[in-house]
Amino acid sequence: MADARPPLVGEAPAGASHEPPAGLPVPVRVLFVCLGNICRSPTAEGVMRALVREQGLERSVELESAGTGAWHVGGPPDARATHAARARGVALEGAARQVRVDDFINFDLLLAMDRENLRELRRLAPGEEERAKVRLLREFDPASAGAGDLDVPDPYYGEGDGFAAVFELVHAACEGLLEQLRDGSLAHQAQ
Ligand code: 4NP
Repeated sequence: MADARPPLVGEAPAGASHEPPAGLPVPVRVLFVCLGNICRSPTAEGVMRALVREQGLERSVELESAGTGAWHVGGPPDARATHAARARGVALEGAARQVRVDDFINFDLLLAMDRENLRELRRLAPGEEERAKVRLLREFDPASAGAGDLDVPDPYYGEGDGFAAVFELVHAACEGLLEQLRDGSLAHQAQ
């Protein structure tokens, strides 16, 4: 019988180009943002870190994550998120922190997991230039083009399945994000 297990993230063919992303500052700095910084945004950070490593772009892309809320500051990623990521070959690391105003200066892109995070980030942005750095992560998933709902649903109060679904949504979007960073199309949109 065929193996039904989804491929591990690190199993994709490397195809490493060691090319820095074109048109954006190098390193380009990306902050993933959700509500608690223990489920979705650490998953996005871990997935993107694994994809960046596969492509040999560690020196060109810098990644962090943060939450709009402060409830879990200092805490590790949620065990259910860690488990779902480990099942796909991705380690989640780091301690939760809250978004700070200087994040809008220090990062080139602030990627929200859902529309509530997006609204809160836009409210916190100190100016128009900084507000323009705020986007929804799933805008970068090519399969989501034209979709009305680009949220990564909050899995915190649900069952384990929600975490596996979050992983897949985040993974598809991060692959699209890396592709846009590499081909320079993201830089052109930002101009
Ligand atoms: P996250 O999930 O925003 O993906 O980290 C949540 C974590 C904690 C809570 C809500 C969402 N909370 O209400 O504590």
